[in-house]
Amino acid sequence: MTMSYGASTSLPQRVSIREVGPRDGLQIEAPIPTEAKMRFLDALAATGVKRIEATAFVSPRAVPAMADADAVGAYVAGHRDSPILYSALVANARGAERALAAGITDLEYVVSAGEGHSRANARRSTDDAVAAVADIAAIAHTAGGRCEVIIATAWDCPFDGPTPLSRTVAVAAHAVELGADQICLGDTIGTTVPKRVTDLVHAVRDATNEIPLGAHFHNTRGSGLASAWAAVTAGVTMLDASAGGLGGCPFAPGASGNIATEELVYLLENSGIHTGIDLDASMLAAHTAQDLVGHPVGSNLLTAGGPSRPIKAPAI
Ligand code: COA
Ligand code: ZN
Repeated sequence: MTMSYGASTSLPQRVSIREVGPRDGLQIEAPIPTEAKMRFLDALAATGVKRIEATAFVSPRAVPAMADADAVGAYVAGHRDSPILYSALVANARGAERALAAGITDLEYVVSAGEGHSRANARRSTDDAVAAVADIAAIAHTAGGRCEVIIATAWDCPFDGPTPLSRTVAVAAHAVELGADQICLGDTIGTTVPKRVTDLVHAVRDATNEIPLGAHFHNTRGSGLASAWAAVTAGVTMLDASAGGLGGCPFAPGASGNIATEELVYLLENSGIHTGIDLDASMLAAHTAQDLVGHPVGSNLLTAGGPSRPIKAPAI
């Protein structure tokens, strides 16, 4: 039997992966030393990844693991010749100003489509959080930067249940009207499945025209990679993932890890879709992440180890 790994014509040639381990990955963990984060960032930079979410400029009382955002931000901003685009998450205007002061101009402003999650995570309603897109975008644009809006709980909210598709679409459309340069759909609690991904991606695309659209999945119920694949086949070419599958929102009960970067690289590269990421280096970065947090991470690939392509089945 011969196996073919060639890309089918309906698939994109490339997918851009954003590594979110240093932020989404670590935010739910006990704080680790800033030096250790720098080693992690260095290991990630060596994988060939071109976009890294470095930290979050949020309240240190709300997320103690991100209390060193100013130092981490300054560290990555110091890599002036790097081909990597470093971004940071913010939850209010003050966070945006802190990011710019540290030298990070690519901002990710998080808005929860689920009302309950919005109040737990940002202490404000979804409507108020969306309205603030105008301020955050203005702050980013004045500094020559960009404002991406990440829509958390885009499919389901841990407090309110399913988020109506029309509600997430309305948040996306309003965010774009108010100046968002990019939208990312976040499956914060890892509940969605491919069919729902396809439906929401198409609906948001229709409502936001040419705005770049990314997606962010958690593997909480084992459907994360399938959802990522559905997003790709629906035309999404920007995906978030975290080394080793670390991650989760501290304000979403039951949240757990992101899809693992090395597993996503394995899936895409062996489907003929180029990521620019070296799988062996990606697995090393996942080992680094596991060592830093001091407990096993969720990655199946890390557990399996071995070659970066499927083993050829022995002839029978
Ligand atoms: N950076 C640092 N500190 C900040 C801050 C920021 N961007 N924004 C607010 N704070 C501090 C205030 O100084 C205040 O500190 P104090 O308690 O020591 O006096 C405290 O946070 C509360 O400030 P307030 O303006 O009343 O905010 P809030 O209590 O309404 O909280 C957020 C709003 C957005 C600041 C807070 O909910 C938050 O940071 N959430 C982050 C959520 C997150 O990162 N989730 C994971 C990703 S989805
Ligand atoms: Zn997440």
